[in-house]
Amino acid sequence: MNDVASRTPSHPNAPTVETVLSVVHYTDRLFKFRITRPPSFRFRSGEFVMIGLHGGDGKPILRAYSMASPFWDEELEFFSIKAPGGPLTSRLQHIQPGDPVLLGRKPTGTLVLDALTPGRRLFLFSTGTGFAPFASLLRDPETYEKFERVVVTHTCRLTAELRYSEDIVDGLVDDPLIGEISAGKVVHYTTCTRDPHPRPGRITTRLDSGEFFKDIGEPALSPETDRAMICGSMAMIQDMKARMYACGLTEGSNAQPAEFVIEKAFAG
Ligand code: A2P
Repeated sequence: MNDVASRTPSHPNAPTVETVLSVVHYTDRLFKFRITRPPSFRFRSGEFVMIGLHGGDGKPILRAYSMASPFWDEELEFFSIKAPGGPLTSRLQHIQPGDPVLLGRKPTGTLVLDALTPGRRLFLFSTGTGFAPFASLLRDPETYEKFERVVVTHTCRLTAELRYSEDIVDGLVDDPLIGEISAGKVVHYTTCTRDPHPRPGRITTRLDSGEFFKDIGEPALSPETDRAMICGSMAMIQDMKARMYACGLTEGSNAQPAEFVIEKAFAG
């Protein structure tokens, strides 16, 4: 555990004040950052928490962020958009190592393995920063204990924005905890909508045309064998949901596990 202590504010539910450890900018729209993790901070892979900064008026500005780091990591990692004029991200994009960041105390969310019934293949569909919860799930041994095959898709506007998921998936093989257990099980499928790319277009378009399953050499989605998680913009979620229902999959939750789960990717 990093030795930068979390300062405990007065209210028991108030966010803790953590310290920025590193920041990497991918494009003028996307960046990742790492912060200290208090020893008491526990979460399930795929969950989100409130992250923020103190506002000018003294009130905190907080937004939901999925943990992108695995549950066993001593630090916390987040993958963020830089929303033009966004109340939080217009400032958060300028953080530097050593700066304070507010971290909520109550991780929650539906993109968790517990919200899915048992299956053979797990499909993780993401756009933009929606890949973040999957970065965590891909490094959880339980993902590979529960599923024989994990197909993770990431669609971005620009090829440079795909870099984050490429680095995470490429790193799996050398990961001491999941390198062996994940070997040969993960399919990473990227598509790009506004730059030249071998797989152009939205994931929805490539599902509809049949190119997606042709490209990965796997049979189409079936409620018998398949489970899915979806994370992206509201429009992407709605469009993907319609396709899940069309394939016969039903939506689950923590209280009622089923065949697919959704979560809106953070923006603001
Ligand atoms: P597009 O460039 O055609 O809008 P954003 O940054 O706006 O959230 O978009 C991230 C990626 O998600 C982009 O490649 C975008 O494609 C794609 N996208 C946007 N809306 C949808 C949708 N309704 N269904 C599938 N993909 C979408």
